[in-house]
Amino acid sequence: MSDLELAILERRSIRMFLPDRPVPRELIDDALALAVHAPSNSNVQPWHLVLASGAARQRLVDALLAAARSTPPRVPALPPAFAHLRGELGAAVYGSMGIRRDDVEGRRAAVLRNWEFFRAPLAGIVCMHEDLHHVDSLGVGMFLQTLLLALTARGLGTCVQVSIAGYPDIVREQLGIAPEFTVLCGVAIGYPDPGFPANRLRTPRNPVEQNVVFIAD
Ligand SMILES: Cc1cc2nc3c(=O)[nH]c(=O)nc-3n(C[C@H](O)[C@H](O)[C@H](O)COP(=O)(O)O)c2cc1C
Repeated sequence: MSDLELAILERRSIRMFLPDRPVPRELIDDALALAVHAPSNSNVQPWHLVLASGAARQRLVDALLAAARSTPPRVPALPPAFAHLRGELGAAVYGSMGIRRDDVEGRRAAVLRNWEFFRAPLAGIVCMHEDLHHVDSLGVGMFLQTLLLALTARGLGTCVQVSIAGYPDIVREQLGIAPEFTVLCGVAIGYPDPGFPANRLRTPRNPVEQNVVFIAD
């Protein structure tokens, strides 16, 4: 298998990191230097990524946790036809953490870890200028996936997080992000905790033909 194939298959969402194992800056710089090769509409390069570590990350986490304890995040609900998928994923994720369905407190604590970036020492905020359009968010996504793969190839774990975008004003305020940037999602970056069973979770995929159609004539 090629290194690319290995990174694609190895990448998965990590939901518990080693908080005290720092992420070497040169690994991030190398991965970013690769990620910027992602394609984008008119070569706009629409990604705007803010990375917080140390005290800046901690201030952000404190503010997000305080908000999450009192106010639900503003994340888009899935339309009814897709809503069951969130439930199925939740059952798999929390099941792999050993949290029973009726364990309301255990589930709440696990959900709250979103706003700690699952304890990752590096907290990323993925933004895009508000005047750009859907087509440009494709470019941001391509940048982000390339970044995830490059980080995976360097032994790092990641988790993309819409939950972080549920409190956009707090994120903007804590990190000084200009109002014209839309907060699309967060990304947690760090070394995976090898003792956390949910980090080994493999989520299923549809058969290719469910989502891809070939037409020849
Ligand atoms: C745009 C986006 C937002 C996501 N938001 C969250 C999130 O808020 N919390 C979380 O635990 N996982 C989140 N995920 C991770 C997905 O649940 C995960 O990618 C999906 O279940 C497939 O699993 P895998 O990444 O392990 O292959 C998000 C992924 C994407 C691409």
